Amino acid sequence: MERARSFGAVAEDYERYRPGYPESLVALVSEVADGPVRRAIEIGAGTGKATRTFAGAGIEVVATDPDAEMLTVLRRECAGLPVTTVRAALEDLDPADHQPFDLLYAAAAWHWTAPETRWDRAAALVRDGGAVAFFGGPFELADDEVAAVEKEMIAAYAPEGRHLPPPSPPDAPMLFPGDEMLADDRLRDVRQWEVRRRFVLAREDYLRHLDTISAIRILPDAGRSALFADLAAGLPEQVEVRADLMLHTARRVSGSASDSQSPHSGSRPPA
Ligand SMILES: C[S@@+](CC[C@H](N)C(=O)[O-])C[C@H]1O[C@@H](n2cnc3c(N)ncnc32)[C@H](O)[C@@H]1O
Repeated sequence: MERARSFGAVAEDYERYRPGYPESLVALVSEVADGPVRRAIEIGAGTGKATRTFAGAGIEVVATDPDAEMLTVLRRECAGLPVTTVRAALEDLDPADHQPFDLLYAAAAWHWTAPETRWDRAAALVRDGGAVAFFGGPFELADDEVAAVEKEMIAAYAPEGRHLPPPSPPDAPMLFPGDEMLADDRLRDVRQWEVRRRFVLAREDYLRHLDTISAIRILPDAGRSALFADLAAGLPEQVEVRADLMLHTARRVSGSASDSQSPHSGSRPPA
């Protein structure tokens, strides 16, 4: 199973065990744009955890995701909010189908998009003076000793560990995707913010959350069951989780050299 498409099979668990996003993000992000933020497009909206945050503040959101199961849950959870859905990966969205938006954002999803085309697509979907925002972060055990036990157990089944390697080099001027934003002359005032989040969870709930992570989802069933038996025996009954969000924002400006490129330039990622 491809990691980027591993979420739909656990859409209900994803909805139940993953936390939502704080309302404070809306003000932080809206201040980045020139003029009001009334319409937004969300990339990789999943079950709508961030969709609710923005649509709940009155912003009309076009929530996009390639996964039908995730979108089914999103439509249920966002009922009554100003949300419409489009089933599409970023690479399959045609900017010509939409009026440019005041805001494009993605929560825990931008790293799944194709690096060759994502900034052209983003620039084409956002109006001059509009904002882009990307947020997310690991959900990991706060106690170093407990985290080391977990790491060893996971490594026995998933040698690459539970996290994707960061797409940016360690000496980049900002964490991903801030480094890519700094390199794009259609984006101004690139900023990196950190929003602190801590949770205390019952072990069972933490493990259900862990089972929604792509590195674990793609394990063969037998390995996954054995891993969860080990973790249930090895972790304490309650765990503290560090889930700080890293937020990157910028304002879209037009008239740059990159604006003359086609939004469709670049190649598709391998299927
Ligand atoms: C970790 S989930 C995040 C879901 C939601 N934004 C949240 O924060 O709860 C990643 C989502 O990205 C979607 N995705 C994967 N590849 C994508 C792509 N190329 N373009 C847009 N979304 C993609 C997946 O279907 C999945 O719903």
